[in-house]
Amino acid sequence: SGPLSGSLVGGSLLCLDVIDSTNTECKRQAMAGAAEGLVVTAEEQTGGRGRRGRSFQSPRGKGLYLSALLRPRLEPAQVANFTAWVAVAVCDGIQAACGLRPQIKWTNDIILNGKKLVGILTELGLVSESNDLDYLVTGIGVNVNQSAGDFDPEIRDMATSLALALGRPVRRSELAVQIIRALDRAYAGFPQNQGEYLEKYRADCITIGRQVQVITPISRREGFAVAVDDGFDLLVQFPDGTEEAFSSGEVSVRGM
Ligand code: BTN
Repeated sequence: SGPLSGSLVGGSLLCLDVIDSTNTECKRQAMAGAAEGLVVTAEEQTGGRGRRGRSFQSPRGKGLYLSALLRPRLEPAQVANFTAWVAVAVCDGIQAACGLRPQIKWTNDIILNGKKLVGILTELGLVSESNDLDYLVTGIGVNVNQSAGDFDPEIRDMATSLALALGRPVRRSELAVQIIRALDRAYAGFPQNQGEYLEKYRADCITIGRQVQVITPISRREGFAVAVDDGFDLLVQFPDGTEEAFSSGEVSVRGM
């Protein structure tokens, strides 16, 4: 029995050398009928993708690039919160692997020493006739053994890696196992363990209690992040005293 025996997530593993994107490959596998729990990893991505159409730099052998295929029997709206659970699970996995607990910038950027450590991209596959959820792919990119010079100049000041924080390299295979285990635990408890994940999310979230800019396609407002509510929405108080809840789809928040 290996390190992942008994685990649904990671029950099958596809470890690739080079791929366009582990998320894209995981989606191809899903459409070809792969069972849930499949985890795809790669040493290098030639077209790593981030949120909002951005690219994700994925230098060979430096980061952990991992995607998991899940098929939760839930409405698409019910899985909206799952990405927040994934953020908590990634913090749990990193802590188990190397003792550091990073923080979460709402909604799901993972931050260490004020800089970005991990990006998460969750994508849903819907059945076209019914709009039911067919599959969910959650992709996790961890900066592991990058040194400062490995980051492109335009993100160098905003990004960090586990090795930069610890002053020593981290074994990516061990980190992958711990993250997969934590993901499996999260998924097995979804959604009934909501209380536990909310509590951890709030404790890890560095956005709460800070001045933020709420940016929508048509406006940009300054406010104060008061709390994360029970649906993982961000409650923001504006200078006129009004308070509004925002979900990750509608706004992006600048500032931590
Ligand atoms: C973001 O920060 O905007 C999300 C970045 C997500 C990157 C990971 S790396 C593994 C998986 N494959 C991808 O192409 N993207 C995700």
